[in-house]
Amino acid sequence: MGNPNVVVVGATGAVGKVFLRILEERRFPVERLRLCASPRSIGKRIKVNGEDLPVEATTPEIFDDADFAFISASTAVSRELAPVAAQRGAFVIDDSSAYRMDPKVPLVVPEINAEDLEWHQNIAAIPNCSTTQMVMALYPLHKANPIKRIIVDTFQAVSGTGNLAIDELREQSRTILEGGSAKASVYPHQIAFNALPHIEPFMEDGYTREEQKMLYETRKIMHAPDIAVSATCVRVPVYFSHSEAVHVEFTHPMSPEEARELMAAFPGVVVVDNPAANEYPLAIDAADRDEVFVGRIRKDSSHPNGLAMWIVSDNLRKGAATNAIQIAEEVVKRELLKPRG
Ligand code: A2P
Repeated sequence: MGNPNVVVVGATGAVGKVFLRILEERRFPVERLRLCASPRSIGKRIKVNGEDLPVEATTPEIFDDADFAFISASTAVSRELAPVAAQRGAFVIDDSSAYRMDPKVPLVVPEINAEDLEWHQNIAAIPNCSTTQMVMALYPLHKANPIKRIIVDTFQAVSGTGNLAIDELREQSRTILEGGSAKASVYPHQIAFNALPHIEPFMEDGYTREEQKMLYETRKIMHAPDIAVSATCVRVPVYFSHSEAVHVEFTHPMSPEEARELMAAFPGVVVVDNPAANEYPLAIDAADRDEVFVGRIRKDSSHPNGLAMWIVSDNLRKGAATNAIQIAEEVVKRELLKPRG
C-alpha cells in the first residue's frame, strides 16, 4: 500500500492547526492531504509541507478516497460525519466525545493501549485532553501497584475550548488592563483574571460532563473498571497547557522515589521534580512540547497508600493532535488500514 490519503475536518481550528504542524514535524507520509472546515472558511488557503492547500467544503464525497479522516470540529460534527467517513472506507480518528464511550470504538493513548486498535471498526477516539495527561503519568504506577482512587483538580487552558476562547481571553485581558469592563461570550463568566469551576454542562450528580469524562475515560483506557475518580475541572486564564493536582491511592504504599523511577522510564513522561531549585512542571514550559511533565511528587499525608503530584502537558499536542497522529502511525505500523476501493 502507498502512502495514505488524509482528510482533516476542522483544519482551521485550534487543534487542527497544530495537527497540520505536527504532520510536518513528524514527517507523517501523506499521499494527498485535503482540508475541511465550516462553510465560512471555504476558499481560505493553508500552507502544509510547502504546499498551498485550499480549505474545502465538508461533503460526504471528500472521504471517498481517504485512508484517514481526522475530525476535530465539534461533537455534533463528529456525530454526523464520523459514520459517513467510516462507511466510505476512511479510518476515522475522532477528537470529540461523541464516540469515546462507544464499546465498538477504541479509546486510545498509544503508549498505554495501542493494542485496542486491533478491534477497531473504522473509528478510533482520542481521549479528553485532561484525561490523556493524567493516565500517561499514572499508568506506569498503576501497572506496578494498582490504583484504587484518584482525586484530581485541573487548571485548564482556554485553548481547549478553541480559537474563540483564545481570542476572548486576549480581548478581556486587554480591555480590563485598559480600565474597561470585560464582556463574556464564550464562557458564562469573565475568564481573564479569574478561575471558573465549570467546564461543560453540570450533570445530575453535581459533577460536570468534563469531570465525568475523567472517570469513565480513565477506566476504559487503563482497562481498570473499578478505579474511582473524583475530579474538579477548572478553566484558568492560561493559553496553552493543562495543569493538574492529582492525589492517588494505591493498593499498597508507594514511595515517591519508586514513582519517579517508574514515570521517568515510561515513554512520553518526563519527571521535573526539584523543588529546592524551584523546579516543577509549568504550563509555559510544557507548551509546544509533546511530553507529559510530572513533579511535586510526595507522600500524601492524608493516606498511607497515597501519593500527590502535579501533572502538566500541552493540551493541543499530547492532549489532542500528537495523540491522534500517534494513533495513525500505530494503525499504519499494525497494517490495520483496509485497502482502498
Ligand atoms: P471554521 O474555522 O470555519 O469555523 P475551534 O475548536 O478552534 O473552535 O475550531 C473548530 C473547527 O471546526 C474549525 O476548523 C471550524 O471551522 C470547524 N468547524 C465548525 N463547524 C464545522 C462544520 N459544520 N463542518 C466542518 N468543520 C466545522
